[in-house]
Amino acid sequence: MTAHRAMQGVYLSDQYDLSALYGPAITAAAQGDLRIATPAGIDAPEEVEFALCWQPAPEAFAAYPNLKFVMAVGAGVDALLAHPGLPADLPVCRVRDPHQGQQMAGYALHEILHVERRFPWMARNAASRLWKEPPLRVPGDVQVAVLGGGSMGRAVAQGVAALGFSARVATRRAPEDPLPGVRYLHGAGSVPAAAEGADFLVNVLPLTAQTESILDFALFDRMARGGWLVQIGRGEHLVEADLMAALDAGLLAGASLDVARVEPLPDTHPFWGDPRLRITPHVASAATARSVAEQLLQSAREARQGRRPALAVDRAAGY
Ligand code: GLV
Repeated sequence: MTAHRAMQGVYLSDQYDLSALYGPAITAAAQGDLRIATPAGIDAPEEVEFALCWQPAPEAFAAYPNLKFVMAVGAGVDALLAHPGLPADLPVCRVRDPHQGQQMAGYALHEILHVERRFPWMARNAASRLWKEPPLRVPGDVQVAVLGGGSMGRAVAQGVAALGFSARVATRRAPEDPLPGVRYLHGAGSVPAAAEGADFLVNVLPLTAQTESILDFALFDRMARGGWLVQIGRGEHLVEADLMAALDAGLLAGASLDVARVEPLPDTHPFWGDPRLRITPHVASAATARSVAEQLLQSAREARQGRRPALAVDRAAGY
């Protein structure tokens, strides 16, 4: 990066051992241009210029007065932006890992196919030695609404369209590079419009003040009867009581839930054990260590040159 000293960073997480997860990839990518340690390994906190974070403790930033940027190890920066100790105006970066979009698409398509092609029904039949064929729909008759037109939404819509399903995407702004065969709805009202008559609703929105609790009874009521929710955004997008009410009323047949308002999902939560729900532990996607390392290095170089990192989010917009 420079002929002089390596830029110093710190890992800040209450939840994960970021050093174990990302340390080897960062060492390999950085080639001596940056150093990073856990708080216990920092001798001179005033020399720390960046932080790599996932859900840092409330007081985590207080010891480091000279931060130039912070980076989340994932795509969603909602928790970081809501952090009470985050210095105002400090650039907050997210990782933009192309593999993460593919992982999201893989998860969503798995769930859609699982439900659409009746795999659970066939598994139950197989357990009783029953050879019964499920009905097959013309793929284009299956309406899939994707909420979110960023890199995740794009990857999901691309996969949906590749399988021949009808894909529509609700997005804030009209896309610069729309996918062929995908219908876009943008601006105010695009989310309810996309949900209209949808068999599947895939949520990959960022969590912002505008999108919190957007998955509610009224939205489910717009979908085709017996529809299915694939919730791979953030737990706070979903009004959990409304999901249960929509299931009980038959608006939805079920939901795939990868995220929850409280994670890990508490032992006593009513979602556990409900046969209409397919619960996974926030694994739909994760930025790869290599992408985190490369993008951290890129951001550190930009910050060192006095530039705002290109991966910095719009803090006011929330993503
Ligand atoms: C995962 O949830 C992420 O934000 O990358």
